[in-house]
Amino acid sequence: MKRIGMLTSGGDCQALNAAMRGVVKSLIFSGEQIEIYGFLNGYQGLIYGNYRMLDVSDFSGILTRGGTILGSSRTPFKLIHEPDANGLDKVEAMKHSYYKLNLDCLVILGGNGTHKTANLLREEGLNVVTLPKTIDNDLWGTDMTFGFQSAVDIATNAIDCIHTTADSHGRVFIVEVMGHKVGYLTLNAGMAGGADIILIPEIPYDIKKIVQAIDERKKRGSKFTIIAVAEGAISKEDAKLSKKEYKKKMENYPYPSVSYEVAAEILKKTGQEVRVTVPGHTQRGGSPCPYDRVFASRLGAEAGKLILKGEYGFMVGYRNREVVKVPLEDVAGKLKKIQPDSSIIKEAKMLGISFGD
Ligand code: F6P
Repeated sequence: MKRIGMLTSGGDCQALNAAMRGVVKSLIFSGEQIEIYGFLNGYQGLIYGNYRMLDVSDFSGILTRGGTILGSSRTPFKLIHEPDANGLDKVEAMKHSYYKLNLDCLVILGGNGTHKTANLLREEGLNVVTLPKTIDNDLWGTDMTFGFQSAVDIATNAIDCIHTTADSHGRVFIVEVMGHKVGYLTLNAGMAGGADIILIPEIPYDIKKIVQAIDERKKRGSKFTIIAVAEGAISKEDAKLSKKEYKKKMENYPYPSVSYEVAAEILKKTGQEVRVTVPGHTQRGGSPCPYDRVFASRLGAEAGKLILKGEYGFMVGYRNREVVKVPLEDVAGKLKKIQPDSSIIKEAKMLGISFGD
């Protein structure tokens, strides 16, 4: 008999349900008796002992359902050691929930912040297995996170839709793509959608180069230009600022996001009409794509295997096309970023895509 606590934390994404279903199915089909305690709304459920006992039927019919049946929330790691409003020690409270229910382990699905707390719980002596979710694909230790491919599909679709209207009107269009501080989503959706210019945080841009790329397209007879801008894209000048200076600049920032700044600069320098589209949270919503359904199910099944073997303290990840277990202490606190000299960037440049550098 295994008593398993499960939670989904941080921003949601597609295939969280598929992954949890994978864990539970693999355990059931192994013949192991299990009890599943689903903590509601991420670490909040673990802190405040808010859980629901789940049975097999809860995991039926959820392979294709987006979101998470457990709910999610953000519990910032930097505040984890600070008592809550009523003076509750959050770390002790999480341990209390675990021991009170006599759990064998916790299965935690999350991204970067979630993994820091998961690793802390491991250090505190709890048995933890994690699964890598995020549309950002920025989790260290795994080549791929689930949610990413589904979000690429949605962001690509947004760029595809913009293409036809951009062509009709001969405008410059910006599509702002999520991804927090990394550019995987923008790079992949940008390339898949045929964007002419792609701006990602890992390659700070020079507005003059962007204008130059637009002008060159015009000279070649193109009526329009599509720019995929990562929400975390940054100019060369801003990249040189210290953290403090950058924070100060952002205090008086007149734009809703970087895309609007780029749009204003292009208008100022070229007089051309620019339109900004922000698909926002649609990128995290809806049904997981087939790739993510398969991928998350596989990772879930492998997490079930680790639980059966009693191997704890690992994230189930994916490297060089193999499902692997990665020690949590190696994952926590590290960000996976695009290397500006990686082959995908070189290939994109060979295709004529400008990164504004
Ligand atoms: O980490 C996933 C993500 O969607 C990022 O791409 C984005 O920056 C952030 O979450 C948005 O967070 P929230 O849903 O809390 O606004």
